[in-house]
Amino acid sequence: MAYELLYKVYDSLMSHVPYDRFINVVKEYADKNAVLLDLACGTGKVLVPLVEEGYLIDGLDLSEEMLMVTRDKLQTKHLSSSLHLGRMEELKVNSYYQLVYCFLDSINYLTNIIDIDNTFQGVFDALVQDGYFLFDVPDQNYIKKMFSNYCFVDEMEDSLYIWQTNTQKHNQILTVYHQLTFFLPKTNHLYEKKQEFHTQVIFPLNIYIELLQQNGFEIVNIIDDFLLDGSKRKLIVSKKCRS
Ligand SMILES: C[S@@+](CC[C@H](N)C(=O)[O-])C[C@H]1O[C@@H](n2cnc3c(N)ncnc32)[C@H](O)[C@@H]1O
Repeated sequence: MAYELLYKVYDSLMSHVPYDRFINVVKEYADKNAVLLDLACGTGKVLVPLVEEGYLIDGLDLSEEMLMVTRDKLQTKHLSSSLHLGRMEELKVNSYYQLVYCFLDSINYLTNIIDIDNTFQGVFDALVQDGYFLFDVPDQNYIKKMFSNYCFVDEMEDSLYIWQTNTQKHNQILTVYHQLTFFLPKTNHLYEKKQEFHTQVIFPLNIYIELLQQNGFEIVNIIDDFLLDGSKRKLIVSKKCRS
């Protein structure tokens, strides 16, 4: 299962990401008293600062380990949020949200059209009328250039991990394969090797747009220059426009 190991180093791996940009765009579209949902909230890099500012946000993620990190951060700051373990493509909620967001390549864990469609349908059902849905899509060319035969090694005080990636493009669909190899300390100066694998898919932008529209969303804005430390991406702002 993905993120069973990566959760340990996720925040340090993401230390270059200017999360403020995501936080500010949420604040642009959400009233202060709005109730929000962070889809694939991870370690709460967006959720925790927003909760700290007084927003009411629920979080959902597939990884118990990532949720545990968010829970710890909230607890340390004496904050609360309702966190749920689950898949975004099976989203079923009991309350309605003014805004749902899904950030930092999380939408790309949906590797087929059916899962994207189910997610968009679930988000639609979870939103109030005129509620917003925001997510980002990385630039295919940038990812292909960056992650074809890429290797990154991070040696920490008592452990080490190797992150290897490769890409494959077929019919305008880019698949990114990640292999993470961790060497974690055991006993008597021995290390244990553990691996995890992730697959992400980047569909052409028009596929996401068409699926949004088919599910009753209108496109409010596509922020073209949503750069995060050089990583080109587009941020899509959509709105529930029919019930
Ligand atoms: C790159 S991280 C992004 C986390 C967070 N949104 C951020 O901005 O730091 C991707 C997250 O998506 C979660 N995830 C992957 N597939 C998922 C799915 N099908 N449903 C819900 N969460 C998923 C992972 O567990 C991980 O926490």
